[in-house]
This record gives sequence, structure tokens and C-alpha cells, in this order.
Amino acid sequence: MDARQMKIKAAEAALAHVEDGMRLGIGTGSTAEEFIRLLAEKVADGFCIEGVPTSERTARLCLDLGIPLRSLDELPELDLTIDGADEVDPDLNLIKGGGGALLREKIVASSSARMIVIADESKVVDTLGAFKLPIEINPFGQKATLIAIEKTAARLGLSGALTLRSSGDGLFETDGGHLIVDASFGRIPDADALARELNGLPGVVEHGLFIGMASLAIIAGEAGARVMTS
Ligand code: 5RP
Repeated sequence: MDARQMKIKAAEAALAHVEDGMRLGIGTGSTAEEFIRLLAEKVADGFCIEGVPTSERTARLCLDLGIPLRSLDELPELDLTIDGADEVDPDLNLIKGGGGALLREKIVASSSARMIVIADESKVVDTLGAFKLPIEINPFGQKATLIAIEKTAARLGLSGALTLRSSGDGLFETDGGHLIVDASFGRIPDADALARELNGLPGVVEHGLFIGMASLAIIAGEAGARVMTS
């Protein structure tokens, strides 16, 4: 099974959790996009959901495929969010934001009664941190914010390069007009503490540590899809 087939397997298993009439948060990334394609087929067959997208990219794909969308302001309380992840640990803590959508992903997931993560086995880790931690920052005072992140991490015994993410012709800009710092901290033994400390920095808009937010992870591997619960 290649990587795409595994993503489809996880997406198929997640679709079984979606019920007619649900208000659904719809994630961002290549795994979420496999889910969106399968969901669109069900919608075309008469299945009824209302989706809230976690990015402009997801919104465009949903609209192209005929999935009915609402804004989070129209549907501020959701039944379920289905989204991918860059890393999943045994407690279902996540690193997200590889696709740069972490702020809207976190707002949408927090507004949902449940969050299901879909991923392939390569995303499962014992300890978060091999994937560079995306941190969304305000462009104003970005150097000061980088220094504050560095000092905060150092207090927790973490260090590593902080790189402003670039796109083709300049710095990557999120849907909210912010920048992304990719932090190469390596292993993060206390992700909860780091999350709390980063939350306290004024220039940090949000970060990609999703602590205690996912209720279920559907992990696809060669042998099919398995479920992880915390
Ligand atoms: C986007 C995300 C994605 O869910 C994450 O990067 C995983 O993406 P993919 O399914 O393409 O590996 O957090 O901000």
C-alpha cells in the first residue's frame, strides 16, 4: 500500500463516524483532502452535512466538490471535526500546522464536541518533536517574538533553530495574515508545559501543539486502519 492508499484507508474509516445531519469541522492537508473526496461522494448520493472548513484551501476543494459549507460564525458549535496531523503521540497529543492552517484548525477543533485524527503510521511517535513545531506569530515585532520563543524554550531545556517558513517568493503567510516559525526543538518531553508557555507570549498567535483535543485517532498502515484512543 502506498502513502496515498493509507491516507484513503484512514479517511474511509473516519467517514463511518460521520452521521447524517452533522455539523462537521473539515481539516486541512493531503489526508484531510482524501476524506473530503470521499465525503463529497456521499453528499452527491444525498447524505446531508454542513461543513466548516479549517482553511481557504479546504474551502475551495469542498466547494469544487459540492460539499455545503458554513462559516464558524454561522455554526459555532460543531458535532465532529476530522483532520490530519503531523505527529500523534500515545496520549493523542498532536503536532499540527505542517500545512500552515493550525490557527483555524485549533479554533474549529475546539468548537467541536469531538475531534478525530486521520493519519498513516509514519505520524505515530512516542514523544512529539521530530517534526518541526509550527508556531504562528504576528508579523509585528517578529524578531522580538523569536527571541521570546527561544528564551521560553530554553527555560524548558529546549533549543534548536527557529526558521521563518517561506513560500515561493517570500515568507509564507497564513489565512489570517500571520507568519509561521518552524521550531526544531527535537524531542519535547513536556509538550503540555511548552504549550502553556507559548500561549503566554504576546507575539505568538497560536502553536501547533494540540494537547488533549483529539478523542480518537484512526491510523492506517500496511495491515489496514487501527484506532488509537487516549
Ligand atoms: C495542516 C495540518 C495537517 O493536518 C498536517 O500538516 C498533516 O498534513 P498531511 O495530511 O498532508 O500529512 O496540520 O495545517
